[in-house]
Amino acid sequence: MVPELQKATVRIRQPERVRGIIQALREQGVAKLQVISDFDMTLSRFGCNGRRCPTSHNILDTSRVISEDGKKKLKDLLHYYYPIEIDPNRTLEEKRPLMVEWWTKAHELLVQQKIHKSDIAQIVRESEAMLRDGFKEFFDQLHKNNVPLFIFSAGVGDILEEIIRQANVFYSNVNVVSNYMGFNDGGVLTHFKGPLIHTYNKNNTVLQGTGYFQQLSTRTSIILLGDSMGDLTMADGVPNVENILKIGFLNDKVEERRRKYLDSYDIVLESDETLDVVNGILRYILTQT
Ligand code: C5P
Ligand code: MG
Repeated sequence: MVPELQKATVRIRQPERVRGIIQALREQGVAKLQVISDFDMTLSRFGCNGRRCPTSHNILDTSRVISEDGKKKLKDLLHYYYPIEIDPNRTLEEKRPLMVEWWTKAHELLVQQKIHKSDIAQIVRESEAMLRDGFKEFFDQLHKNNVPLFIFSAGVGDILEEIIRQANVFYSNVNVVSNYMGFNDGGVLTHFKGPLIHTYNKNNTVLQGTGYFQQLSTRTSIILLGDSMGDLTMADGVPNVENILKIGFLNDKVEERRRKYLDSYDIVLESDETLDVVNGILRYILTQT
């Protein structure tokens, strides 16, 4: 059905169930399909050239527009809060207030740096941002078939939009909800617009008023892509979900987190820097017989 599912990176707890969902997605047809995806470390790469790839926040944090002191403080925050974010032994309830703390402190530091709106394109060009291998086929397939792609990100919206724009895949079927920067009349960053989106509130509470899922109420087949346990709730606001396939990239602390990911995601991709499996599934669903 989907040869890519034989890749060594693929782990599935219930293969029969997964087969059934993929079959149902194909039978329901392209007109009913929508894709909901996280951005950082899901559409973008986790590792490149033996090093970590930057998140949309990291791209800003390490850019030339940030003072040395600012860079150090932002890095200290990352080293303190990231292990908490991915700790499999803490509950989401424990993590939530700490994530709000992290994002709030980081955004305050960024606002102190007087970042210019007009610097963003150059910051992204000079960064090591990388989309996963196969990104072009992924975006192209969805665009050609008019399948809506909803990117739901706790990263920085202005940065991630610029990444997909520079990759020439910011098509009309792509919608982004994320943390956007607010600028004054002089084009200087003064605040981040609310509501604050962090790893563990990616659900309907931050989508109130967007009407996005309501306007797609006939799109009852969902493919959800994420890399965090917090991404599992991204489709909670979709009315009348009939079939949902959850695909999770397990990038970091693979051994410790495997059990949880296998219990929560239908398909787990371990240390897989590509969109091969996703593209294979899409090819199968979108090819009408
Ligand atoms: O869930 P999502 O991928 O949208 O979350 C954004 C990512 O950005 C998280 O994986 C988090 O580790 C990272 N982050 C960061 N710097 C911050 C806040 C979050 O790198 N200040
Ligand atoms: Mg992510």
